[in-house]
Amino acid sequence: MLIGDRVMLREVSWGDLASRQEWFADPEVTRYLGWLDGVPVPYLQDDTPGAVEWTVALRETGEPVGIAQLGKLDVVGGQASFGIVIGRKDLWGQGVGSAVIRLVLAYAFQVAGLNRVWLTVETRHHLAVRLYEREGFHPEGVLRQARQTQDGLQDVSVMGILRQEWEARQNHGA
Ligand SMILES: CC(C)(COP(=O)(O)OP(=O)(O)OC[C@H]1O[C@@H](n2cnc3c(N)ncnc32)[C@H](O)[C@@H]1OP(=O)(O)O)[C@@H](O)C(=O)NCCC(=O)NCCS
Repeated sequence: MLIGDRVMLREVSWGDLASRQEWFADPEVTRYLGWLDGVPVPYLQDDTPGAVEWTVALRETGEPVGIAQLGKLDVVGGQASFGIVIGRKDLWGQGVGSAVIRLVLAYAFQVAGLNRVWLTVETRHHLAVRLYEREGFHPEGVLRQARQTQDGLQDVSVMGILRQEWEARQNHGA
């Protein structure tokens, strides 16, 4: 379990199912997840051995509010992909996403000993791109029209943060 000031990342449990169903039935939550007609497309499913998924819960009440993942684990290359969904829309814009990213990166670099964490985000999802940049992810390139969505084909940005970049940020109090 990873514990921050306001949120914690805990093991996924069956008790989280109802919340997940509610979040994923909401088109605003799934809009940028590359889902078509509310169904996750195959490339979102990650069955890589060693992938980690947490339920994001409020520290005070234990209430589930989202999901965080480190997936596509590459043991040899020391890297994994990051994914986040804050399903509770009423909490958006209050720093929950940022707190989750900090906890997951600390786990990835300090506990798991990874060298690189990367993610993909639809280029048009500006709010998320800005959030990732603020938390230290660098733009690494754009896969043009790489994802089919309800709104047609979308460009997908690859972003990444290296261990040395994360450490430099810790030393500068970021
Ligand atoms: C993208 C997402 C993870 C952001 O989580 P969050 O808890 O809102 O993130 P934060 O509050 O830490 O940061 C969001 C930033 O957007 C700003 N913002 C402004 N209006 C906002 C709104 N209506 N909703 C959310 N954020 C808003 C926030 O103020 C903040 O920026 P700031 O720190 O400069 O003020 C969340 O919206 C989400 O899970 N969306 C659905 C799934 C998704 O798109 N996942 C990402 C796929 S790549």
